[in-house]
Amino acid sequence: MENLYEVKPAKVIKVIKENPITNTLVLKLKDQEKFEFLAGQFMQVGIPGFGECPISISSNSKDSKKQFSLTIRTVGNLTEKLNSLKKGDLAYVRGPFGNGFPEVEGNLVIIGGGCGFIPLRTVYEEYKNKKNTKIQVFIGCKNEDTLVFKKQLPSIKQKHELNLIMEDEKLQGLSSGQGFITDLIKKKKIYKKAKVFVCGPDVMYKFVVKELLVKGINPENIYLSLEKRMHCGVGVCQHCAIGPKYVCKDGPVFPYSFLVKHGYFK
Ligand code: FES
Repeated sequence: MENLYEVKPAKVIKVIKENPITNTLVLKLKDQEKFEFLAGQFMQVGIPGFGECPISISSNSKDSKKQFSLTIRTVGNLTEKLNSLKKGDLAYVRGPFGNGFPEVEGNLVIIGGGCGFIPLRTVYEEYKNKKNTKIQVFIGCKNEDTLVFKKQLPSIKQKHELNLIMEDEKLQGLSSGQGFITDLIKKKKIYKKAKVFVCGPDVMYKFVVKELLVKGINPENIYLSLEKRMHCGVGVCQHCAIGPKYVCKDGPVFPYSFLVKHGYFK
């Protein structure tokens, strides 16, 4: 059985600049052909002397035998160092960890606030070509400088339904007005029997879920990734505790009903 605590070097084979503070590192392990993950899982990523932190995987799980991607926003010394890596450099990784999103039969609604769209992109990639699955994608962020995967958005719009909104500006041909993600959800017809996956800052969940319930979405179909709650990512800091569970060890994805039961929305 694979030892998830073993640190492995991963070679940077490509760096994609997503915005001024966010890069996608496309990585390859020595034994990449043995690597597998589920959409919504994360890796522990480190650089010797700088520490280690949890980062969601952002690539298509179907490509996992060839490569995988981590999309990293600079928020401190370690992420700054990771985002300074160039092609050929090494990052040190462990994992994958976490439970990931449940399987989808039928339609899918993806709601990503800020860099919350990062783990949801793996979900989109996984289901974008599935027969009989229509996908609605909702993305909200502050401005173009905080938007991720901008180059991919036209293809999402062409193939499925893209709803993008930014607080400070509009993106010609792509965004639907200016404001918050909840404004968009209020306006749009949401697929009724779809699974709904949400990821974003803590403050967003309460308002998004409220709108979904007003629209008549079955609470049993709503899942939230609380990856933003993670700090150490290894069950030590207790920062991520929700009721009897830890986001880093038991999540990061939880059904809405579990979160209600343990007082997350109070
Ligand atoms: S992130 Fe530290 S205990 Fe979960």
